[in-house]
Amino acid sequence: MSDAPVTAAPAWTPSAAQHLETVLWVRHWTDRLFSFAITRPPTFRFRSGEFVMIGLPPAPGETKPILRAYSIASPSFAEELEFLSIKVQDGPLTSRLQHIQPGDQVLLGKKPTGTLVLDAVRPGKRLFLFGTGTGLAPFLSVARDPDAYANFEQVIVGHGVREVAELAYRDLFTREIFDDPLVGEEARKQLVYYPTVTREAFEHQGRFTDLIASGKLFADLGLGQTAFNPDEDRIMLCGSMDFIKDMAALCESQGLKEGSNAEPGDYVLERAFVG
Ligand code: A2P
Repeated sequence: MSDAPVTAAPAWTPSAAQHLETVLWVRHWTDRLFSFAITRPPTFRFRSGEFVMIGLPPAPGETKPILRAYSIASPSFAEELEFLSIKVQDGPLTSRLQHIQPGDQVLLGKKPTGTLVLDAVRPGKRLFLFGTGTGLAPFLSVARDPDAYANFEQVIVGHGVREVAELAYRDLFTREIFDDPLVGEEARKQLVYYPTVTREAFEHQGRFTDLIASGKLFADLGLGQTAFNPDEDRIMLCGSMDFIKDMAALCESQGLKEGSNAEPGDYVLERAFVG
């Protein structure tokens, strides 16, 4: 037996570009979808609709953390940072992230960014927020921000999913948001929720591309138009690569121009992040 001191492996510490934050709650919607919230560092600022890198400290035997870009689902003034995530069984990050519990630690990047922000769309009358799957996340942020209701007469949240069970946050948009101390009153007058399901029976069925091209979406919303109106309608898109590509082509064909932070436009888009 030797009395030589045991040299402990140096504890892993986050880089200067990351905060280490604490998980506050986790909610599982389905076996493929969950939400969680983490503490917000006092210095962390973001605009509603932006995304940020999220990750986990390295597992035993690993040296580097795995980080992925996630839209922040809470609005810019919220005390906690909320996220909506897919669960991929062999996904490098979400195979582990799906097992987080309150009290666990999560890495948070220091530089939020993105184009699904009110600054990137020109003034208008109606703001359409179309998300498929976890692409709803940035719009949970925008639709809970009082600026959305100050800038637009109507805010329409469209969520497209395959199955009814994937309509996460349905209770928020059909009930809870109307009691929100900050946007409840505005939401009651100005918010419209339009969920649609493609692979099961539901009150609204079909892909947004088809519902828009046919004019059915506008009829269902009671709008006296059969296509987007470039003078009044502004659109934000978030979902799979195919979804944003097809929706962008549809927007262009109806006379809308893509915007960015540098040059606000009629529609903006971002891919929903996976893995
Ligand atoms: P569908 O069931 O007809 O494929 P995903 O989980 O694949 O991202 O799909 C989420 C939702 O988005 C589903 O309702 C899906 O419809 C729909 N969707 C997928 N691709 C497109 C697309 N290119 N245009 C419009 N909707 C799409």
